[in-house]
Amino acid sequence: MPTGTRFVPRPRPARCQAPPRTRVRGINHLDHDPAPFRPAIRPLGSISLGCAIRGATGTSSRARAWSIGQAAARLPAPIRGPLGRLAWRAYARFVAWRTRHEPEVDGGGLPIPPTRLRVLVVRGTYAGSFLSSGHAEALAIAILAHNHGSPVDEMGAILDFGCGCGRVARHWANLEGPEIYGSDYDPELTEWCDSNIPFMRARVNGLEPPLPFDARFDLIYAISVFTHMTEELQRAWIAEFTRALTPGGLLIFTTHGRRYVGRLSRRERLAFERGRVVTRFAEAAGSNACATYNPEPSVAGMLSGLERLESLTEGVPGIASFSPLRNQDVHVARKTY
Ligand SMILES: C[S@@+](CC[C@H](N)C(=O)[O-])C[C@H]1O[C@@H](n2cnc3c(N)ncnc32)[C@H](O)[C@@H]1O
Repeated sequence: MPTGTRFVPRPRPARCQAPPRTRVRGINHLDHDPAPFRPAIRPLGSISLGCAIRGATGTSSRARAWSIGQAAARLPAPIRGPLGRLAWRAYARFVAWRTRHEPEVDGGGLPIPPTRLRVLVVRGTYAGSFLSSGHAEALAIAILAHNHGSPVDEMGAILDFGCGCGRVARHWANLEGPEIYGSDYDPELTEWCDSNIPFMRARVNGLEPPLPFDARFDLIYAISVFTHMTEELQRAWIAEFTRALTPGGLLIFTTHGRRYVGRLSRRERLAFERGRVVTRFAEAAGSNACATYNPEPSVAGMLSGLERLESLTEGVPGIASFSPLRNQDVHVARKTY
């Protein structure tokens, strides 16, 4: 269990040989460094395709993807919906094919979820990225809690809200003390966690509160979940967390903050600058198609009943850039009564 009080960025691991096909070593223990795992095959999508587009057009593939996204957002909803689902299915199939030789269990013997589930929760879809990002984020959560005087190993119960396929929660394997709970809107994800992560109790919840547990939590964390909800849902869930936390309990959650304004249209950016929450595809709330952007003041305004302890608007330093705890704003609040 980490005892340090500051984040010290780790040097990047050197490139190494591809790992054995079925196991990734030393990943799911909080007291280990993630193994320097590299995928056996090259990331075709991000390198080859990106280079090809850059070479052909002179614009970066990312900028191009966003302008395609903005154009898609302007399509009428009846066309946009089916087109979006079709594009998503094609992407998920491509990623599943790309990662077909991946390991099936990690170094601690826990199954790794299939790509079609991993693709729903994090940008780095390789097993190695899935494991190492989750490991780094569990560690970061433990350090944040420790820094605010609440060591995770002294807690009674922890909830991973919007747990997905257990990317973060699986790394609490060696944590003695607290019971580990997870909940998510997507039943396929909670079923996977419940059947494959033996120390975690995962249940499905509705798009709106309540939580599916009676337990009181000393820590609730929601990584990249508020980013897919409307402002109304964000407020409702914060009120529910406030109810479900023990006195002095911690809430850690992430939002898309100022670093995301480049994604917004001019009109959206103006609203964001005026302190308004911007939501795209509100009708798809709960899925990754819905994206919400929270200016700083909107977060402070939501936390009634909680004391805001800190907001890291540059994310947690020292972890991979595709990790939500790095590229999103990270907020820590405490229930004071
Ligand atoms: C980008 S994924 C992140 C998953 C996980 N927190 C992680 O970091 O790996 C967003 C998750 O939020 C879940 N979600 C969205 N709306 C939700 C809601 N109202 N209640 C619970 N989960 C929700 C989705 O089903 C999805 O699993």
